[in-house]
Amino acid sequence: MKDFLRVLRRFVPPYKKYLVWNVICNILSAILNLLSFALIIPILNILFRIDETQYTYTDFHFQFFNFETWRGMPEAVKNNFFWFVQDMIETKGGSFALIILGIFLVVATFLKVFTMYMAFFTMIPIRTGVVRDIRNQINKKITELPLGFFSKERKGDIIARVSGDVNEIETSIMSSLDMLFKNPILIIIYLIGMIAISWRLTVFVFILLPVAGYIMGQVGKKLKRKSFEGQQQWGYLMSQIEETLGGLRIIKAFNAEDKIQQRFEKSNNDFRRLTNRVYRRQQMAHPMSEFLGTATIAIVLWYGGSLILSNNSTIDASTFIYYLVIFYSIINPAKDLSKSAYAIQKGLASMDRVDKILQAESNIHDPKDPQPIALHDHIQYNNVWFKYQNDWVLKGINLHIPKGKTVALVGQSGSGKSTLVDLLPRFYDVTDGAITIDDTDIRTATLRDLRELMGNVNQEAILFNDTFFNNIAFGVANATLDEVKAAARIANAHEFIMATPDGYDTNIGDRGGKLSGGQRQRISIARAILKNPAILILDEATSALDTESERLVQEALENLMRNRTTIVIAHRLSTIRNADEICVMHEGEIVERGRHDDLIALNGYYKRLCDMQSF
Ligand SMILES: Nc1ncnc2c1ncn2[C@@H]1O[C@H](COP(=O)(O)OP(=O)(O)O)[C@@H](O)[C@H]1O
Ligand SMILES: [Mg+2]
Repeated sequence: MKDFLRVLRRFVPPYKKYLVWNVICNILSAILNLLSFALIIPILNILFRIDETQYTYTDFHFQFFNFETWRGMPEAVKNNFFWFVQDMIETKGGSFALIILGIFLVVATFLKVFTMYMAFFTMIPIRTGVVRDIRNQINKKITELPLGFFSKERKGDIIARVSGDVNEIETSIMSSLDMLFKNPILIIIYLIGMIAISWRLTVFVFILLPVAGYIMGQVGKKLKRKSFEGQQQWGYLMSQIEETLGGLRIIKAFNAEDKIQQRFEKSNNDFRRLTNRVYRRQQMAHPMSEFLGTATIAIVLWYGGSLILSNNSTIDASTFIYYLVIFYSIINPAKDLSKSAYAIQKGLASMDRVDKILQAESNIHDPKDPQPIALHDHIQYNNVWFKYQNDWVLKGINLHIPKGKTVALVGQSGSGKSTLVDLLPRFYDVTDGAITIDDTDIRTATLRDLRELMGNVNQEAILFNDTFFNNIAFGVANATLDEVKAAARIANAHEFIMATPDGYDTNIGDRGGKLSGGQRQRISIARAILKNPAILILDEATSALDTESERLVQEALENLMRNRTTIVIAHRLSTIRNADEICVMHEGEIVERGRHDDLIALNGYYKRLCDMQSF
């Protein structure tokens, strides 16, 4: 419970206003409930002609600061109400009195259900607001966390957290708000009513209730762990669907539909088995509480009944029935209290999982006292070592890149080329050594300033489900159409964009699915051209293309690289032939460096790579 109060304190405060209204409505509805049921007493008395007393009107002066008048009030109100009813029966007849009481009942009930509805009504903005905030926070956190975080967490698992877990949290926050602000209010007000009628009965009842409550609580204990496992498995399922969607082309080409389906069915079955257990436990709450509730009522009926029958009681039969009605009204909120305990356990399990994202510490920070950073002279890798987990991926890299020059990286796949360039925008931080730009360590500048210097074009063009215009203008605020067009022209993309129905306003579809590989790549080059970065990073930008589109892309790239500091990872000779320096990487080290002709003459790694045409 303490854990959950913390969750509430985190997410509910912006919606305090609604909570106050909710409490007010709940108090009103409980009082109106008591009043409307109080009408039962005179109705019963009239019908069964029980009440022999002759009532007279008493004059009663209520004073707010006089405690005695507070104490006298219920008795006086009751007396005058009974006098009023009796008077009406005598002058107008019994059935007329019933009609009037009926109208009272209808009006009081209308007011009661209205305030009840208003209580729910004020709860809704809290509920929708809290989940909106959590989703926003998750998405924000996802964009802030370093790339390294996501190689550990599966994508589908994260989606499961944004969908499933957030919904669990929603339910349990609602239950716990009810638990804190609704049910206690109802219970206390009904309880006051019950004590006012008969404190002896009420004391007896309240010895019974905790016993029933304890039995209920035992059932909920194991729920949290089970539901945690359930959500875990759900995340696993989501991951598989996401993988299937991404790999559909390969699944079909390799006739692997059955295999994928079997794998999915197995996990799905595991999920079902877990949820069976969770639901069974959960569903036990209802029958258990119904049974315990009725058993309690039976005992109260026996005790109260024998009090009345023994003739030394202060209450009469119709009041006892009213008492039972109130007691029955208390059972529902009490039942809800125990149900909330379940929901809260489930919610806590989900909160733990969501917090794995929300509370994740980014290990790549802005410095406290950031330095300005700019490239006027050179980029320098100084004895850089790096590992993802255990094995060194880069071992003592030294690299000097003068401004305006092009450095090419070649080497077998897995030799660490992409890792080397990922360190420059600080997608990962060096494990040892340092990278400097104009002798400023890149870790002393803000990430924003640092990344402002760079433009990336990767093997897989990363595009968004949006228009051509917005995809090209992605990294630049307030780009004009003319600027975007100019960039697209240089990237050889203008023509094919204009051939689409809406030109630059055409939507490119999910990840650019409607475009060919070469077209996608030219869009991402146009994006880099528009950003006009000081440093350009090309990671196998042409390796996914056929020769025809490669020529256009190649041309676009050459336009982009002109007079710009460039690190290019390339697999084709044509791209690197003119580089100012070629570095040959092998198992995390630069083993040869120089210009093309010199390296060929060296007759080493580079010569072999050239012969195999495999970089
Ligand atoms: N996110 C990652 N987590 C763990 N290991 C990785 C990750 N990315 C790459 N590696 C490993 O680092 C090594 C270098 O990979 P990479 O830099 O991508 O090589 P290249 O680009 O030259 O093909 C490989 O052994 C690869 O398995
Ligand atoms: Mg690579």
